[in-house]
Amino acid sequence: MGGIDRVGIVGSGVMGSGIAEVCARAGLDTVVVASGPDSVEPGRRRLRKSLDHGLRKGRLTEAERDAVVERVIFTADLDELVDRQLVFEAVPEHEPTKTDLFALIDKIVTDPEAIFASNTSSIPIIRLARATTRPQQVVGVHFFSPVPVLPLAELIGSLLTGEETRARTEAFVTGTLGKQVIGSPDRAGFVVNALLIPYLLGAIRMVESGFAAAEVVDRGMVLGCSHPLGPLKLADLIGLDTIAAVARALYEEFKEPQYSPPPLLLRMVDGGLLGKKAGRGFYTYP
Ligand SMILES: NC(=O)c1ccc[n+]([C@@H]2O[C@H](COP(=O)([O-])OP(=O)(O)OC[C@H]3O[C@@H](n4cnc5c(N)ncnc54)[C@H](O)[C@@H]3O)[C@@H](O)[C@H]2O)c1
Repeated sequence: MGGIDRVGIVGSGVMGSGIAEVCARAGLDTVVVASGPDSVEPGRRRLRKSLDHGLRKGRLTEAERDAVVERVIFTADLDELVDRQLVFEAVPEHEPTKTDLFALIDKIVTDPEAIFASNTSSIPIIRLARATTRPQQVVGVHFFSPVPVLPLAELIGSLLTGEETRARTEAFVTGTLGKQVIGSPDRAGFVVNALLIPYLLGAIRMVESGFAAAEVVDRGMVLGCSHPLGPLKLADLIGLDTIAAVARALYEEFKEPQYSPPPLLLRMVDGGLLGKKAGRGFYTYP
């Protein structure tokens, strides 16, 4: 079994472009499949913006930035994944979208040893695995945003994941991408979101009930608890649609009130106020 040099990423949003960046920075041949021709250019711009930010912060040089831009191929054609050894899925947190995609990728990718990794925040990996003919090669790799900055990835094996797939994926994520891994169970929310989401929902409920304004809650947690950013800013950064989807999945799995998405969150999603990526959420963004 050889090393992994050719990776594919499906989805060029917040997470897909971040995963593409770390893969390309590790020197890998990287293909990103966007949802359609109109999403190719925005995906490329998102990557470029993140690299420019990294350059300003001194995390990479101009030459490294240019090499990454050169290395990542953006396309709208899923067939370009044909020769990939590892494919990361980073499309929206919507189960039918993901299962349809896994079924398609399974048909396209020819390498019999290829690994299919989902970046889902809450959907059981086993359901995605069952959409393919090779469930033993499906695994969850849950990165955190911004992917180029945060060192953690949760590694989730389902009941059907092969030991070899798990070991190969862990070696790739730690050795090649330089991330640190924690193993998480195949339960909605895994480890981190099962704790983080109720906290974010609690902050949203405080705003909804008029208990405290978003700025007050955020200032409290930043200055009082040394959090790098407050829960409403973090919610905007993650994306309110993603938070609502993860909350629903957690509530469906555990039936605990703490996971139930508050109406304010649902109405903001209905209204397209999705946070930073939409220009407006609990805060507005230029
Ligand atoms: N945002 C976070 O902080 C975060 C963190 C960890 C994991 N995740 C998970 O990562 C996944 C992606 O989240 P995101 O924040 O990047 O969402 P996003 O909305 O920023 O990006 C999703 C992208 O997928 C594209 N897409 C939709 N259907 C597609 C298809 N069939 N083929 C190709 N592209 C398609 C959309 O056009 C969009 O660009 C979700 O499962 C989410 O739960 C998100």
